[in-house]
Amino acid sequence: MNASTIVIVGAGQAGALAAAELRQQGYAGRVVLIGEETHAPYERPPLSKDMLLQPQTARCAIHGEGYYAEQNVELKLGVAATALDTQARIVTLASGESIAFDELLLATGARVRRLPMLDALGENVHTLRTLQDAQRLIPVLQTGKRVLLVGAGVIGLELASSAIDLGAEVTVIEQAPRAMARCAPPLLTEPLCDVHRARGVTLHLGSPLASAMREANEIVLTLENGTRITGDAVIYGIGVEPETTLARAAGLHVNNGIVIDAQCRTSHPHIYAAGDAASQWDAASGRHQRRETWENANRQAQTAARAMLGLASEGLEADWFWTDQCGLNIQFAGDMAAPEWLARGTLAAPPCVLFGLDGEGALVGAITVNQGRDMRSARALIGKRARIAREMLADPAQNLRNLAREFA
Ligand code: FAD
Ligand code: APR
Repeated sequence: MNASTIVIVGAGQAGALAAAELRQQGYAGRVVLIGEETHAPYERPPLSKDMLLQPQTARCAIHGEGYYAEQNVELKLGVAATALDTQARIVTLASGESIAFDELLLATGARVRRLPMLDALGENVHTLRTLQDAQRLIPVLQTGKRVLLVGAGVIGLELASSAIDLGAEVTVIEQAPRAMARCAPPLLTEPLCDVHRARGVTLHLGSPLASAMREANEIVLTLENGTRITGDAVIYGIGVEPETTLARAAGLHVNNGIVIDAQCRTSHPHIYAAGDAASQWDAASGRHQRRETWENANRQAQTAARAMLGLASEGLEADWFWTDQCGLNIQFAGDMAAPEWLARGTLAAPPCVLFGLDGEGALVGAITVNQGRDMRSARALIGKRARIAREMLADPAQNLRNLAREFA
């Protein structure tokens, strides 16, 4: 490949992985990694978990100190890319610097969806996306503090779990009838909510907020059903929106995310996108899809980096992500909207595995709870759209690895 400069905008999960992949594949040209945050690239999953529970020892850096210098990756931190000229192939930074590129990767991630009703309260209202946000939460999540969590998605429930572990009093308010509805079926989320309740969390599901006020030192949230809930602080996690400002202004095709093909190429032949900001064609569902997961960011970053160098990537396995809550490691693969789910074991007494079947009885999704070792086999079976008798799936005596071998 002839390109002499590759610029990556966004020094997060996808950005850092793409830079590493370029070097790993032997690219010897200039690599510039531009990040708006002041921290060197870090992983976000620990922010709702270990960074809150063990802030002294938790680590989240993606690469060790010295990595970027050793790999000759020019890391420009604390500076946003503010403009993109797709014709001249130039990125302009907030500092005024302009950088010409041969190939560009947009790895700009996502930002939290705002809830003006809560933002208007000012002090003691938090969201969680960045390391700085997590650092601000540490003094909030303390013994005896009354913490109000708005949104029972992944962030809300992970925070509920961490806050309980830290001794806080926790109330969760969710407008939808059930928790984690975006990414998990009721067969998982209903018993999971029971586990949270048993640990002391008060959950208000199907409970839209009517108003938010400050009274003396307290925050008062009133639900549409009239319930008044008071607390010392509010943390809300009501979803994220892809960060597409730069792409949109530059005229790239954006539709709930920067639209990319299987090679992560945008509507411009020399501009790629990866991670939370990107919306990729998905053959299985027959539509473009944005995925907000750690593995997707890594996978698309590597695909994009390889495509820039003219290298192909291996075929995709079923989507995978995880969450850690209430001492449970929960891993998900494949289609979480599968119409039928059945359980092997029960979440009340893990380990357990849930299987999702499509309308024809083929395996299209799986969830392991404290049983991560079954995940590889489950993903292989999902890849084959295996048809396995329901009794066998539900039977803990049937080894998934053996089943996967049968379908290999
Ligand atoms: P990001 O990691 O968000 O990086 C994007 C970066 O680009 C940011 O640093 C941003 O400041 C920067 N940027 C944006 N615009 C510009 C610009 N114009 N100029 C310069 N820089 C810019 N996933 C899982 O699978 N499992 C989990 O358990 C899990 N837990 C999570 C917990 C938390 C608290 C959070 C927030 C996320 C979690 N995720 C989890 C999701 C996962 O972390 C994300 O999917 C992943 O970080 C996406 O990577 P990304 O590179 O696309 O975006
Ligand atoms: N009031 C209460 N709940 C709300 C409101 C509202 N006004 N608006 C949305 N919600 C709820 C949704 O119904 C949903 O249950 O907030 C929840 C948001 O869940 P997610 O979409 O999972 O988003 P979040 O939990 O914020 O996680 C954001 O972080 O861990 C990553 O991968 C994860 O990308 C995701 C991101």
